Amino acid sequence: MHGTPLQSSEKKLGQLEGVFRDSDAWQSMSPETLVYQVQWHEAIPQGMEGGLFWGTTTIAPGRVGDEYFMTRGHFHSRRDRGEYYCTVQGRGMLLLMDEERVTRAEVMEPGSLHYIPGYIAHRTVNTGETPLVFWACWPSDAGHDYETIAKQGFSARVLDRDGSPAVVPEER
Ligand SMILES: [Fe+2]
Repeated sequence: MHGTPLQSSEKKLGQLEGVFRDSDAWQSMSPETLVYQVQWHEAIPQGMEGGLFWGTTTIAPGRVGDEYFMTRGHFHSRRDRGEYYCTVQGRGMLLLMDEERVTRAEVMEPGSLHYIPGYIAHRTVNTGETPLVFWACWPSDAGHDYETIAKQGFSARVLDRDGSPAVVPEER
């Protein structure tokens, strides 16, 4: 991807306070550790109806304690807007949570296509030893609500259990 509509952002561990369960483990790691980066193509202004955006996300392999590196996760600001993800490289899990906080997970592997309906929060988790790379396509007027997840989290986490990923209900 190239050209003027191309945008990018990255998230380092230091920017992800409160995201991971084990705050002692989080504090013991370098805040400069890169967790994920996103590049996306905005052909029209954000918020304008009728267009689509295209993005590539790369999540580094790694863990904070027994919890795999992952994205913050979000609902769309316009809750009814959906999204497609398609896995390119690596292995992971897509956590999907509805507004009643019921969470389910889909396995991400090269070629896997994931339809995320409206009203569903989504977070991706790298459960492998190599970068997890996936494409995303979403409506130009979807917007991102990170705030709700920052406050309430997901109702389940993906943790390493004896070398394998397990979806574990969040203790509240
Ligand atoms: Fe999204």
